[in-house]
Amino acid sequence: MCGITAGISTSDVTGTLLEGLKRLEYRGYDSAGLALLNDKGEILRKRSTGRVATLEEEVSKDKELRGNVGIAHTRWATHGKPTENNAHPHICNETVGLVHNGIIENHESLRASQEKLGYRFTSNTDTEVIVHQVHHNLELYDDLFSALQQTVKELEGAYSLAVISNLEPGNLVVARQGSPLVIGLCEGENYIASDVSALISKTRNFIFLEEGDVARITVDDVDIVDVNGNYVERKVHQSKLSSDSVELGEYRHYMLKEIYEQPTAVSDTLEGRLSGNHLLAATFGHEADEIFNTINSVQIIACGTSYHAGLVAKYWLEGLAGVAASVEVASEFRYRSHVVPENCLVITISQSGETADTLAALKYAKEIGFKHSLCICNVAESSLTRESDMVLLTHAGPEIGVASTKAFTTQLIALMQVVIALGQRNALTNELEERIVRELRSLPVKISEALELDAKITKIAEKFANKKHALFLGRGTHYPIAMEGALKLKEISYIHAEAYPAGELKHGPLALIDEEVPVIAVAPNNELLEKLKSNIQEVRARGGELIVFADPGTGCKQEDGLTVIEVAPVDDIIAPIIFTIPLQLLAYRVALIKGTDVDKPRNLAKSVTVE
Ligand code: G6P
Repeated sequence: MCGITAGISTSDVTGTLLEGLKRLEYRGYDSAGLALLNDKGEILRKRSTGRVATLEEEVSKDKELRGNVGIAHTRWATHGKPTENNAHPHICNETVGLVHNGIIENHESLRASQEKLGYRFTSNTDTEVIVHQVHHNLELYDDLFSALQQTVKELEGAYSLAVISNLEPGNLVVARQGSPLVIGLCEGENYIASDVSALISKTRNFIFLEEGDVARITVDDVDIVDVNGNYVERKVHQSKLSSDSVELGEYRHYMLKEIYEQPTAVSDTLEGRLSGNHLLAATFGHEADEIFNTINSVQIIACGTSYHAGLVAKYWLEGLAGVAASVEVASEFRYRSHVVPENCLVITISQSGETADTLAALKYAKEIGFKHSLCICNVAESSLTRESDMVLLTHAGPEIGVASTKAFTTQLIALMQVVIALGQRNALTNELEERIVRELRSLPVKISEALELDAKITKIAEKFANKKHALFLGRGTHYPIAMEGALKLKEISYIHAEAYPAGELKHGPLALIDEEVPVIAVAPNNELLEKLKSNIQEVRARGGELIVFADPGTGCKQEDGLTVIEVAPVDDIIAPIIFTIPLQLLAYRVALIKGTDVDKPRNLAKSVTVE
């Protein structure tokens, strides 16, 4: 979802801004643009629909398009179609240029008053009102920094903003409220971006703006005022992100690379947290002990794939730890009344740590009386980690493919660590803790074995080439895994896929079954096996084509209309993690056959920073 880069230097910033935009491509976008202030005091702009590569090509043809101050943007359309006119930067009266990530909720009223003042609009975006407002305030106030401070007071909604003006060639001004923005500090130049990965080849030193901050950036200085207009110092963080972790390497797609990185990602997420057959108490930080001692229930909040991880954790928390757990998608949680249980821990789960709904839901949870929060997050330097009392990082490494894979499995690992920590204080016995830890340690090897199914899965993927619908079935902890499998397939192959708890088949979805709707079932060898087998028969009896991922101990046998793919036997405790792997591979292989844009599926964004 929208990405921003901007910079101010003693030399041309064009290359750095475009390079940064490329590194932000994973966020999802449908048009791109940049504006530069040249040495004649003109703001020059180039915008194009489609890929950053197209913009780059056009920029390279125009030798005039250079400047020491500039702003650049990838746009994911919300208000107005993905056209060149709607692409950012927006410019007002050749004096002010601006890029924006977020949504301005009061754009209609601002537009009406600006039209009365004589401003003319050239786009259908909510953003354009901001550039006019800055221009208007620049006439009323002395300088761009003050003008932006005044402007943000007049905005309702979420934004990160970068603004330039030919009246002040030595300043880049920026602001942040509800959308991410980082400042990368360099020698004799400074840059800003939506996240650290965009600037990691330039610097390791970053300032993370806080909510409501407005900053003035020059080639050698940064001034920041907080939400109350007071000058503040913000800490400089050293980023540990490595620049090759965001390279594609030998893989054809990031998604495939990330699927294959799971053994390492999982072992990195376990590293330093286990000792012998136990979880180390220090895993959650020094304040955790006291908080965990008071906790008797858990409220999990997340979106998308992260929500599915939360659903698995509910089974684990109640089944293994004896702790009551509720799970809700963030966009629902934040807009309803709650009965707030005492001593309930809010757990947010997010790969990016920037998902607007998850951040807002956490804020809301605190307002209505939830006292303690823990976030499970893959980005150490994200908004969510800063807003939470406790942080448990998944060490999956940067995830670029829009369809989340290694983030999901590492979230499950982190959640299992929560299950142990809370379980130790509740129903978890020493024996069970030892068994869980043993199984966690075995995961990297078992995931590698599951990855070996790729060749078989590639063959069965053909069956989906002409299908329009698919149904995924699972029971217990494997119902959310079926949901995740269906989500992966629909996201990247555009096949309509739904998941059902297998027991619900006869209450509706059975009516859909015919030879045109393949049914995918996950069949671990557990106490629900016999029930699942009956459900499989219900499908077979109606002529449905079945593909079953099964533990060999289930005795499921291949026959006409029933393809069985054996998954090496695993303890039921970690089976959901293992059964996820073939479903990820299936979605990937089907998408390859269909020729879709696997890493950047249409209409989707990696980091959903608007609600
Ligand atoms: C988007 C992504 C999904 C992701 C969801 C939640 O929809 O495309 O892959 O699961 O956001 O993102 P988060 O970063 O909060 O886990």
